[in-house]
Amino acid sequence: MIKLNFNQQIDQGKIMQILTDIGADPMGGWVKLPQEVDMDELMRIKEAARKITEEAEYLVCIGIGGSYLGHRAIIEALAPKSEVKIIYAGNSLSKRELDKALTEVGDHDFSVLVISKSGTTLEPRIAFEAFKRKLAEKYGAGASQRIYATTDAAKGDLYNEAIVNGYTRFVVPDNIGGRYSVLTAVGLLPMAVAGVDIDKLLEGAAVATRDTSSSAQYAVMRYSLAQRGYDTEVFASFEPATMYFNEWLKQLFGESEGKNKQGVFPASVIYSTDLHSMGQFMQDGRRNLWETIIDYPTDELNTKVVMAVRKAHTVGGIPVLNIRPESYDEKGFGELIYFFEMACAISAKLSGVNPFDQPGVEAYKQELNQLL
Ligand code: PA5
Repeated sequence: MIKLNFNQQIDQGKIMQILTDIGADPMGGWVKLPQEVDMDELMRIKEAARKITEEAEYLVCIGIGGSYLGHRAIIEALAPKSEVKIIYAGNSLSKRELDKALTEVGDHDFSVLVISKSGTTLEPRIAFEAFKRKLAEKYGAGASQRIYATTDAAKGDLYNEAIVNGYTRFVVPDNIGGRYSVLTAVGLLPMAVAGVDIDKLLEGAAVATRDTSSSAQYAVMRYSLAQRGYDTEVFASFEPATMYFNEWLKQLFGESEGKNKQGVFPASVIYSTDLHSMGQFMQDGRRNLWETIIDYPTDELNTKVVMAVRKAHTVGGIPVLNIRPESYDEKGFGELIYFFEMACAISAKLSGVNPFDQPGVEAYKQELNQLL
C-alpha cells in the first residue's frame, strides 16, 4: 500500500463521478487491465521473451514516448538479470545515437522489437529501417523471424508490414493510449526479456486497483496547489536508477494535462546529486513550485536525506508531498504505475481537460512529416 503524507478534503461525489467517467471513456481500457489480465496474451508474451532469450544477445527496442518510456523506467530501476542486453533506438532523430546503437550491436546476435501504435512515427520508423537493413545483412531470409512488432490491432503501416512479412505481432489495444500502455504488451514483452517478473508487476498494479482513494487524494492535492498558483511540480527521487521513472511521469502528466493552456509543468530531480545543482533554487528560488518526493524504501542513508530535504524545503516555503511505495521491487513499481496513472487521469479531469488525447504531439508529427 502506497503511503501519502498529506490529507486533502475531497468531494467524494465528484471523485466518484470522475472515476465512472474514466472507466467509461473509450480510452479508459487501462483501468481494468491489471484485474482482467488476458492470460493467453501473457503466455504469448512469455513465449516470445523465451524465444528472444534463446536467439539473441541483444534486443533492440525501437519506440518513442509512450511506446518506450514505461518499460525503460522499470528495466532501469530494477536492473534485473538477463542474458539479453536491451538497447534502445528510435527515441530521437540523432544520427549519432542511431550509429551508436548499430555499433554496439556489432556482430552480436540480435532481435528487434519495434513498438508503434500509429506505425507512422518518424523516429522509430527511421531506426527500424536501419536495423532491418542490419538484420537482412546478417540473417538474410531469416531476418523477419527476428522482428517483433507491437502495433495497432488492425491498421497502420507497421501493422500492414507485420502482416505481410509475418513478424511476431502484439497489439496496443484500441482503448489504451501510448502513455497508459506500460502494462500491455508494449511494456510487458521488453520487461520480460529484461528479466523483470511481469507477474509480480501486474500483481502490484492489481493491488492499486482495489483502492484508488490515495490517487484521488494526491490528484485533489495537486489540483488545489495549481489553483493557488503553483504551476510546477518537481518529482524528486533519491535513487539515480529511477531517472527514467521520472521521465515516464513527466510524459504521463505533461501529455495528459498540458492542453487548453492549462496544466502543471512536470519537472524532475534526482537527489542528492541534484541538491548540488538545483538545491539552491529548490531551497530559496521563485516559489511557484511544489515538490513530490517519491520516497523509495531503499537504504537508511537515503531515508535520512529524505527527512532532511523535506524539513529544509518546507522551511524554505515549498509544499512537499511524500509518496512512499511499499517496496522497491516489481510489486512496488506495479502499484506506483497504477497509482500515478489513476492520479493523472483524475487530475486532468478535475481541471477539465481530456487525459487521453495528445493533439499537440500530433501537430508536431504532421508538421515534421510535411517538412520532410
Ligand atoms: O502517449 C502517447 O500517445 C505518445 O507519447 C506516443 O506513445 C508516442 O508519440 C509514440 O507514438 P506511436 O506509438 O504511435 O509511435
